[in-house]
Amino acid sequence: MSNKNIISTTSGISFEQQEGQTILDASIEAASPINHSCRSGRCGFCKVKVLSGETLAYRQEELTPQEIEDNYILTCARTAISTIHIDADNLTKVNLPKSVTMPCGIAALTLLSNDVLKVVLRLPLIARLDYLPGQYIDITNSYGIYRSYSLAKAKVDEQTIEIHIRKIEQGAMSNYWFNQAKVNDLLTLQGPKGTFLLRDNIAKKDLYFLATGTGIAPIHALLETLEYLPENHQPRSITVIWGGRKGEDFYMDLVGELSNNLKNIHIIYALSNSHLTQTSLEEITFSNSSHYAQGYVQKLLLSLQPNLANSRVYACGSPLMINDAQELLIENGLDEKHFLADAFVSSGA
Ligand code: FES
Repeated sequence: MSNKNIISTTSGISFEQQEGQTILDASIEAASPINHSCRSGRCGFCKVKVLSGETLAYRQEELTPQEIEDNYILTCARTAISTIHIDADNLTKVNLPKSVTMPCGIAALTLLSNDVLKVVLRLPLIARLDYLPGQYIDITNSYGIYRSYSLAKAKVDEQTIEIHIRKIEQGAMSNYWFNQAKVNDLLTLQGPKGTFLLRDNIAKKDLYFLATGTGIAPIHALLETLEYLPENHQPRSITVIWGGRKGEDFYMDLVGELSNNLKNIHIIYALSNSHLTQTSLEEITFSNSSHYAQGYVQKLLLSLQPNLANSRVYACGSPLMINDAQELLIENGLDEKHFLADAFVSSGA
């Protein structure tokens, strides 16, 4: 008979873990997933503090000596060996769609800028891919190289899905996408994955989305879903701050696409270059002057909203931006449970 351990969390949820199962997998099985992304010990998003009980590590955890001393663990790397109590903000009643593996073909390749490619993938007619906006997939090409990419649309559209790929110099997968890929190429898809999902605590709150580069893709999917939320679930305000180094980095016309459908949305294209020149402004051809600013996305957020008590922040982009934003915003009063992030899973190296 297999042993089970009970895991309880500070959000008031309890679930069972089978012997040998990771704490994260047990939470997913119980439809109360702990925040996570990679499920393989790399991203750190499943980190929680153990308040009581014993756990055992399956693999190396990327934790600082201080975090280890403070009883932090990665839930994707550990199993409970007794009843445990953890400080975790689980999602509740969320049945994450089952991750599946299926073939898919390239339906279209469109250059959105010099270094960003939109890829539309066609799914097999009889296959079904369920995902939640904000999730990502892994794509493997015929050379066996795989990378993770966020889904840029809220749902499957006529058996197709969309991802955005950034060109990375000397990146093996990037080389495939930008120099070899052609329509009808066959690839393998695995997913969906991750919990970069809209939480149910955004009603009447000020909602901020921070993105750099193609980190805008999953945020675009989340924004598409906001339109359909009932009035009493709507946030009080929505602000998107999208950072880039040059005008061309803003490869989507978010203002044109979203302003008509979402009330109270404010979109800012943030140039992080220290010298904002007239040329760089003119490159943002689709935006009007009220939508650009100069500076780092996290600093702009703070200058717009110094009081973060009523705010919820979703960030996707470079790890540098995410780490800095998390530190800065929490230091300035944002509840750490109200900062949700996903790493740069759509970069395409
Ligand atoms: S480190 Fe656990 S989900 Fe990424």
